[in-house]
Amino acid sequence: MAQIIDGKKISAAIRAEIAEEVKAMKAQGIYPGLAVIIVGENPASQVYVRNKGKACEEVGIYSEIIAMPEETTEETLLAKIDELNRRKEISGILVQLPLPKHINEASVIAAISPDKDVDAFSEVNVGKIMIGNHRFLPCTPAGVMELITRSGIEIQGKNAVVIGRSNIVGKPQAMLLLHANATVTICHSRTKNLAEICRTADILVVAIGKADFVTVDMVKPGAVVIDVGMNRKANGKLTGDVDYASVSEVAGYITPVPGGVGPMTITMLLKNTLTAAREQNA
Ligand code: GUN
Repeated sequence: MAQIIDGKKISAAIRAEIAEEVKAMKAQGIYPGLAVIIVGENPASQVYVRNKGKACEEVGIYSEIIAMPEETTEETLLAKIDELNRRKEISGILVQLPLPKHINEASVIAAISPDKDVDAFSEVNVGKIMIGNHRFLPCTPAGVMELITRSGIEIQGKNAVVIGRSNIVGKPQAMLLLHANATVTICHSRTKNLAEICRTADILVVAIGKADFVTVDMVKPGAVVIDVGMNRKANGKLTGDVDYASVSEVAGYITPVPGGVGPMTITMLLKNTLTAAREQNA
């Protein structure tokens, strides 16, 4: 039976560290602040954004949630970002994705000042991650790294397989594992012999967005299985990309959904907001 990696517990420990850091920063006259923009009324996004605001409040970070209607034009959104780029009390800016179809996501990401890009989505910040000289860590992949290292698992020399090649998770995840000296394979929807490749993984990170996609026959006994998936089943229940019931019988470690990677993403966002505030006050 696998050991459960408790994302809620690890996240709470890091947030306590962050709260202490915020206190110390304020004593030096540095006040971190985060602006979160949400366009439209995607129910999942609304929950994520609310949780980001709550998390800021809990650790003493100032936050503003800017809710804009679905029909907001790209021009209006870009003007709002421009305003936030200039405001001193805003250290970090996050535009919740996905955006409505009439808004160009790349243009919006490019409009955020790289100094305030706490998602690390901009070309500059992605480039910095690629060369191993990051300013902001990509939130979800960084959260995964914390879950692994804080569970006492060594990464160096291990075979790591990442399923999924998105710009938000798969690609930056592979980079962070590579920088930690794992041997990394990236798999995706067109990969042949997927199960065979997965069975070589000492560390398997799954971010493909398909409920219960990874089954027990794809997992090497004793492997570390990290489930980034968040899928809503027909019965309304939240489920990951890993068939938890069967895989937890053979894996060495496993993250549950919910309560695994999810809480870590916001925690890493808080960390990036402190980094931004510190840099802007340096
Ligand atoms: N939507 C889903 N995940 C994310 C994320 O990490 N950042 C932003 N901005 N939007 C998201």
